[in-house]
Amino acid sequence: MDFKDKRVLVTGGAVRIGKAICETLARQGATICIHYNRSYEPAVKLQDELIELGVDAHVAEANLMTETACNELMERAIALMGGVDILINNASVFNKQTMDEADMDCWLGELWPNFFAPVQLMRAFAAQGKPGKIVNLLDRRVTSLDTACVPYLVSKKALTDVTKMAAIHYAPRISVNGVAPGAVLPPPGEGMNYIKDYAGHIPLEVQVSPEDIAESVRFVLANDSLTGQIIYVDGGQHLSMGNGS
Ligand SMILES: NC(=O)c1ccc[n+]([C@@H]2O[C@H](COP(=O)([O-])OP(=O)(O)OC[C@H]3O[C@@H](n4cnc5c(N)ncnc54)[C@H](OP(=O)(O)O)[C@@H]3O)[C@@H](O)[C@H]2O)c1
Repeated sequence: MDFKDKRVLVTGGAVRIGKAICETLARQGATICIHYNRSYEPAVKLQDELIELGVDAHVAEANLMTETACNELMERAIALMGGVDILINNASVFNKQTMDEADMDCWLGELWPNFFAPVQLMRAFAAQGKPGKIVNLLDRRVTSLDTACVPYLVSKKALTDVTKMAAIHYAPRISVNGVAPGAVLPPPGEGMNYIKDYAGHIPLEVQVSPEDIAESVRFVLANDSLTGQIIYVDGGQHLSMGNGS
């Protein structure tokens, strides 16, 4: 696939892994729409950086907690770029909440940005009625039963299954794949020691980087034969059994 004529919407694209994805796809020549919620300044800074690379880049704000916000984001991205060829569902929240700690507001606080929004964005993307590609950012813990972050993990497990269902449903027009990172960056506000302390055993003993994730997204998109795949980029950690450690 040639990225040069492709228009990409990356949710949560202003910072961290989303930023690395935007940079990697822009280096391939793609037009990028950087979605942000709170990170206005990083989004505009990244937009300038991508334009410096010689590609078109746009920013679009949305708080992805309602169906309307998701639809409006897709409409805005289509208006800015003349259409969207690739959707990267990267925006997410991560909270550690056990069964006892998570009330229904906590559940909805994880399920909306991590599951309902990607689902609605996929539907709005597909409603353009043309060929395209979707990559959903998952988590290596989807193969585990980590009881420390129950609503988060359920949101990512549900998105994993919907990724495969959507791959069947939208074929042959649209491919849908997942990239499941291991411990890449600590939650905002935590240092890298957080990863050492909580990441658990990593068989390859590597520190996965945002660039490793972005490169995997690029690989999945470049390969026209893939759909319904989940690519674990985690040094083999998803192979561990049990509670995710
Ligand atoms: N970091 C890791 O080690 C790791 C591990 C496993 C899986 N992952 C997955 O990989 C992806 C990227 O990880 P990350 O750590 O870079 O993500 P992140 O920093 O936790 O979140 C990415 C962006 O999501 C946006 N977001 C959050 N709530 C939103 C809302 N209500 N509406 C709209 N946007 C919202 C935020 O945008 P603004 O900043 O603009 O508000 C945030 O910067 C995520 O899907 C994550 O679950 C990451």
